[in-house]
Amino acid sequence: MSDDILHRHRTVWQQKPVLRRLYEDWYREIVAWLVPGRTVELGGGTGNLKEYVPTVCCTDVVMLPWLNVVADAQRLPFQSESLGNLVLFDALHHIENVTLFFDEAQRALRVGGRIVVMDPYISWASWPIYRWLHSEPVDCLEDPLVFKPQRADRVPFDANQAIATTLFERNQPQFHSRYPRLAVQHIRRMACAAYPLSGGFDHPSLLPQWMVMPMLRLEPMLERLGHLLAFRMLIVIERQP
Ligand SMILES: C[S@@+](CC[C@H](N)C(=O)[O-])C[C@H]1O[C@@H](n2cnc3c(N)ncnc32)[C@H](O)[C@@H]1O
Repeated sequence: MSDDILHRHRTVWQQKPVLRRLYEDWYREIVAWLVPGRTVELGGGTGNLKEYVPTVCCTDVVMLPWLNVVADAQRLPFQSESLGNLVLFDALHHIENVTLFFDEAQRALRVGGRIVVMDPYISWASWPIYRWLHSEPVDCLEDPLVFKPQRADRVPFDANQAIATTLFERNQPQFHSRYPRLAVQHIRRMACAAYPLSGGFDHPSLLPQWMVMPMLRLEPMLERLGHLLAFRMLIVIERQP
């Protein structure tokens, strides 16, 4: 089932230039935040980060031919303080217990190493779209810092799209007191117009190719209203001594 979704996403990626153009900017921004050291992608799925970071170790809970290692973000198969960067693109909201992931990230990253997360952002504009037009649930009431008993019937695409928004807005003080050595360096609320119009991986695009660049030029202005309009959130966290 998860393999089928990832194979379908890879086909859409190859056939939808609008989507590739939007992701290109996001991957380039992620690359700009990386620090020297080994880079591991968790929940790598389609493996697209490799186009921008050819040396990345691309991992997922499911094995696919283009991935390097099978790894659950909650139990990382890497030595302590051995990694420079952990990248999660649309993966954080699929992790059952994010506290297990942050415990592991804190252990596996070297001092100065980074976690770079791109995830859905729940704004006034994105909530109805994610809630009614996307198959994954949005539960803004869940506290991601509370441990959940692990479900035997869980599948990799089970999710709560509100996880990043809750964790890095409402629960940021709690995150900080629980992980004082994981310092949030940067938060950007982004992807206000072109991305929703592109239809993502699941819907047809309403954005003709010729409108992509003009729309992208508008994005910085729209981002000033990110709390109201954004569909994505970029979070950069740095491991402190
Ligand atoms: C929406 S896909 C994103 C794939 C890819 N990063 C992309 O942007 O196309 C989410 C991925 O997270 C993976 N995943 C789910 N639970 C995970 C876990 N506990 N640890 C690591 N990856 C997980 C899924 O298998 C899936 O490939």
